[in-house]
Amino acid sequence: MNLTHRPRRLRRDGIRGLVSETTLEPTDLIAPIFVDATTDERIAIESMPGHERVPIDDAVARVEEVLETGVEAVMLFGIPESKDSEGTRAWADDGVVQEATRRITDATDAYVITDACLCEYTDHGHCGPLEEELRGNESHEHDADCAHDPTLTVDNDATLEALERIAVSHAEAGADMIAPSGMMDGMVGAIRDGLDEAGYEDVPIMSYAAKYESAFYGPFRDAADGAPSFGNRRHYQMDPANAREAMREVRLDAEQGADVMMVKPALPYLDIISAVRREFDHPVAAYNVSGEYAMLHAAAEKGWLDLEDVALESLLSIKRAGADLILTYFAEDVAREL
Ligand code: PBG
Repeated sequence: MNLTHRPRRLRRDGIRGLVSETTLEPTDLIAPIFVDATTDERIAIESMPGHERVPIDDAVARVEEVLETGVEAVMLFGIPESKDSEGTRAWADDGVVQEATRRITDATDAYVITDACLCEYTDHGHCGPLEEELRGNESHEHDADCAHDPTLTVDNDATLEALERIAVSHAEAGADMIAPSGMMDGMVGAIRDGLDEAGYEDVPIMSYAAKYESAFYGPFRDAADGAPSFGNRRHYQMDPANAREAMREVRLDAEQGADVMMVKPALPYLDIISAVRREFDHPVAAYNVSGEYAMLHAAAEKGWLDLEDVALESLLSIKRAGADLILTYFAEDVAREL
């Protein structure tokens, strides 16, 4: 029996911390916040316990709550007062995210990242204006048949123009960083050009570079009222079966000037986080999405899991896989524990 090697020697209290390979800090975390232009009161989000949509008047107070926990960055999502087929409220100077950003950056030191996407602003719930053929079909209200025709989808290039406008309007309102999440080809380059032309060359872009068409976004779509009214997002978001394709997506975003590369979701895609970490030099962000949050809460409610422990272990695992930053609905709870 050769027991010269006993890894257990290093697992005792006192030495554990010294040999720990991964540490989690509140400053690694980004807290997503939902600002809702349709309400005067906070509205609880049922499928995301502890989270609320907050009115614009409460945006500053909400961010102050986050800052108190030691988390320094927030990601803003907006629910506009009205929607249309093009999503025009997404780039309005008096839009919900623009207004909230102005107030938050005036009143606090929070680092404000804004989500640049159209799905919360279009009446059909897709991440950009629809192609000609689909738009012409409005008479039969985007029935399921259109969605089954694989040639009909979001108009990529028309969406780029909208994203450019959105990004510039966010930067004008004071956003510190822009995060495009629509998975349009060329979105990072278009936004970079737009920001540079408008004089915002110092505003970085965190690209949702490898964003999968995931069923784990369910609770978010309730929260942000951004579910597609027909079809799905598989014509623009990635197939969960693909890993090499993620490297291609990240490479393209790197070429277009993305500053931070995001992988989304996080826990079911730790292999992708780890591969991006190995192959690229950019900071890697991971989005621990709404479904990952909701399932731990649901199990904890039944008494099947300890919520604090599984939340902490989840975030630690995402960090260990290679993420430098983590977007998570657990941000405040975990930061308080650290
Ligand atoms: C919008 C967007 C989504 C999420 C973030 N931005 C939903 C989607 O793509 O359908 C999901 C976040 C979450 O589930 O927590 N493009």
